[in-house]
Amino acid sequence: MLVVAGRVFLAETAERGRPVIQNCSISVYEEGLIPQDEIPGIIGLLGECFEGYPDRSFYKQLPHRRWLVHDGDLVALVGADLRHMRLGDQGLRVTGIIDLCVRESHRSRGIAGTLVRSVEDFATAARSDAIILFADDQRLYRKLGFVSVQNPVRLLRLAENRSFDVVSRRYGDSLMIKSLSSVSWDSEAELDLLGYLY
Ligand SMILES: CC(C)(COP(=O)(O)OP(=O)(O)OC[C@H]1O[C@@H](n2cnc3c(N)ncnc32)[C@H](O)[C@@H]1OP(=O)(O)O)[C@@H](O)C(=O)NCCC(=O)NCCS
Repeated sequence: MLVVAGRVFLAETAERGRPVIQNCSISVYEEGLIPQDEIPGIIGLLGECFEGYPDRSFYKQLPHRRWLVHDGDLVALVGADLRHMRLGDQGLRVTGIIDLCVRESHRSRGIAGTLVRSVEDFATAARSDAIILFADDQRLYRKLGFVSVQNPVRLLRLAENRSFDVVSRRYGDSLMIKSLSSVSWDSEAELDLLGYLY
């Protein structure tokens, strides 16, 4: 099932071997159209799941789209960023996964996996060449077919609502990708995010 916008019950998404998560529903929103009454729940969940998260609904910059999972209350979310990037000399269309998180009480039921697959469906529909993410713990993503790549990454540093400088760094195994097109990923080439790192 491709969920582009709207609300479906996760229990209905059992095809293609996806886990069934009883009583939860997933809503998909363009970032600017998230209902105002969802914002306190988003701030609360991000603060609960990520130590030191700022007291707002996004970390450094707004993503483009968000998936929200409710079980009565908000219990999980993920954001996606669709961006033109540069890998070596070629331009790429890239979907980035941002701030995937699941309330502790609801973990290990396949909710994060379902959300990543939902972003993947969106990325495919959006004709992305690849999905990327940055993760200190790669277990979940490896199971879902992502691989670590060692490309140097060029990015715009942002902090405290300010743009700083442009730097180039490597991220060890944290940078993970899943290719969605025939474009071959040169893992030696510089990946220019053409913006901030999410
Ligand atoms: C990572 C996280 C989203 C996983 O949510 P989930 O719904 O429990 O994930 P799933 O049930 O789909 O998959 C569980 C598997 O993910 C892996 N996993 C567990 N914690 C993980 C973590 N922090 N990072 C990556 N993978 C993790 C394990 O292999 C786990 O399998 P297990 O339950 O058999 O141990 C959740 O633990 C969380 O919100 N952590 C805090 C925020 C965070 O670290 N987000 C990731 C940012 S990159």
